Amino acid sequence: MKILLEKEALHDGVARLANEIEQAFEGRQLTIVGVLTGSVVLMADIIRLIDQPMRVGVIQASSYRGATTQRSDLMINSELMIDITGRDVLLVDDIFDTGHTLTRVIQKMQEFKPNSIRSAVLLQKEGRAEVDCAPDFVAFTVPDEFVVGYGLDYEDMYRNLPYLAALEPADLEKHATQATPFST
Ligand code: IMP
Ligand code: MG
Repeated sequence: MKILLEKEALHDGVARLANEIEQAFEGRQLTIVGVLTGSVVLMADIIRLIDQPMRVGVIQASSYRGATTQRSDLMINSELMIDITGRDVLLVDDIFDTGHTLTRVIQKMQEFKPNSIRSAVLLQKEGRAEVDCAPDFVAFTVPDEFVVGYGLDYEDMYRNLPYLAALEPADLEKHATQATPFST
């Protein structure tokens, strides 16, 4: 594995992100919704850095990814989500890659008629977007490599790493690939 961002640099970026969010939502009641599972580490840090009243909730996105499938059906489960009707919502995810996941999650959330929805991600991959919308807040842009750590997984592993790393071919060979549902 190749280290992309050490713990300290990562935390500086997260603090900058929290600061931008705090300023953007100043004086408004904020509802933060994290996309399971990749956002959990960022969520835990960011909500403690934003010094204002807020509601916190989650929504789940999962997809089938295996050796042969790049992306198939993306499933959005909003059953665990708190009430967002009429609220100013900030959606938080780990990474904006092609952008399909965030776009679909936002579409689902619009059904609940929030007052507004903005989005924040830890990472955006360079030159990969396939959708019109872009995240409103981005902590770091990263090259087009497979990134793990600080919530980001490869087949549900590595989320607990306190730094960000890019997987190398040798790391990928260690995993048996099956087409099972993965929480994004
Ligand atoms: P998108 O729909 O292509 O934007 O992909 C977003 C989802 O795919 C994220 O929520 C991640 O769960 C996953 N993903 C995309 N790129 C990476 C990566 O480099 N490492 C780990 N997960 C990734
Ligand atoms: Mg994932």
